[in-house]
Amino acid sequence: ENESTVSITVVGASGDLAKKKIFPALFALYYEGCLPKHFTVYGYARSKMTDAELRNMVSKTLTCRIDKRENCGEKMEEFLKRCFYHSGQYDSEENFAQLDKKLKEHEGGKVSNRLFYLSIPPNIFIDAVKCASSSASSGNGWTRVIVEKPFGRDSDSSAALTKALKQYLTEDQIFRIDHYLGKELVENLSVLRFSNLIFEPLWSRQYIRNVQLIFSEDFGTEGRGGYFDHYGIIRDIMQNHLLQILALFAMETPVSLDAEDIRNEKVKVLRSMRPLQLEDVVIGQYKSHSKGGVTYPAYTDDKTVPKDSLTPTFAAAALFIDNARWDGVPFLMKAGKALHNKRAEIRVQFRHVPGNLYNRNFGTDLDQATNELVIRVQPDEAIYLKINNKVPGLGMRLDCSNLNLHYAARYRN
Ligand code: BG6
Repeated sequence: ENESTVSITVVGASGDLAKKKIFPALFALYYEGCLPKHFTVYGYARSKMTDAELRNMVSKTLTCRIDKRENCGEKMEEFLKRCFYHSGQYDSEENFAQLDKKLKEHEGGKVSNRLFYLSIPPNIFIDAVKCASSSASSGNGWTRVIVEKPFGRDSDSSAALTKALKQYLTEDQIFRIDHYLGKELVENLSVLRFSNLIFEPLWSRQYIRNVQLIFSEDFGTEGRGGYFDHYGIIRDIMQNHLLQILALFAMETPVSLDAEDIRNEKVKVLRSMRPLQLEDVVIGQYKSHSKGGVTYPAYTDDKTVPKDSLTPTFAAAALFIDNARWDGVPFLMKAGKALHNKRAEIRVQFRHVPGNLYNRNFGTDLDQATNELVIRVQPDEAIYLKINNKVPGLGMRLDCSNLNLHYAARYRN
């Protein structure tokens, strides 16, 4: 392995996704020692840029996960030295052939593995894959492609995209990514369920009243309207990020932790889902408003959005899984941009305590809450369980308190 190389080409290197997520994630992998000894990162995009300009652009995106870690700056310098830029069209075999030449120089005759990260709009996926596979595939190692959503607009366009990709790649070369699966608390969902005794027995219609999957952002599209307006919040957040969480949340125990076994259980959940009914959906679009002397723009004030756009920026939907475990339990998804805060959460609301002794003996003024398990994915990760508790002291007063696993307190480095 030491003598093989990996070349990672970020196709669409100057875009929002590359800057916000991909370069920082590559650096995080480097920082943690997860990249192989010989690796090169290539930015590929249409604009003209020098290697130095790319490095400067990338450097502004890098952060150390935990601030002020030692040698972070040093590591950044080392990483940036491995970053290069190649300017080219996404549909030019010639431009990809030039990239191929540059990659070969870096690879120096070693076994060369090549990864293309498509950080570009889906309408140019196929062109880029065609050119990369015909002109810049590895001659002696693997060649892989990572794609992100939106993977089409609906089942038909998604199937068409898969079919087109298969002209140039085999299935095991294609990696479809959903970055919410990399969030710490989403990864933890299976651990919580399957390695603790106390949750799994409650994980069904018998004890759970509803499950809420919530995503909100406190900023609007901000120049990404050109992309967003074609898709809307349902395709941008719900059918990918929230649906992945739902499937992991609701699946049966997989045969093993192998990717295929987990995938199989998730697919079963999706296949048991009832088609969404129009009357179970609410949509909206954010308007302009002023607060504290600041005026926030409406969605249609975004220069990249048509003035008469009806694209939803908010949606709420009730979904149902018609299987033995979840029959009748609503899974409520809510997602929106430009709302009052930024958060992603799973809230599990439990049923009422049958024949509750405390309601019977003290009337309803004790106002007992039902138990709720909250998995706060971001920000400020936490898992907490709301329970009714006796307020210390003479007399009998109850309140609702949290059993709280607060990540910042528990896992401080
Ligand atoms: C992306 C969406 O997939 O996820 C964006 O396209 C959204 O609209 C982003 O802002 C949110 O991701 P995160 O990791 O910042 O919560």
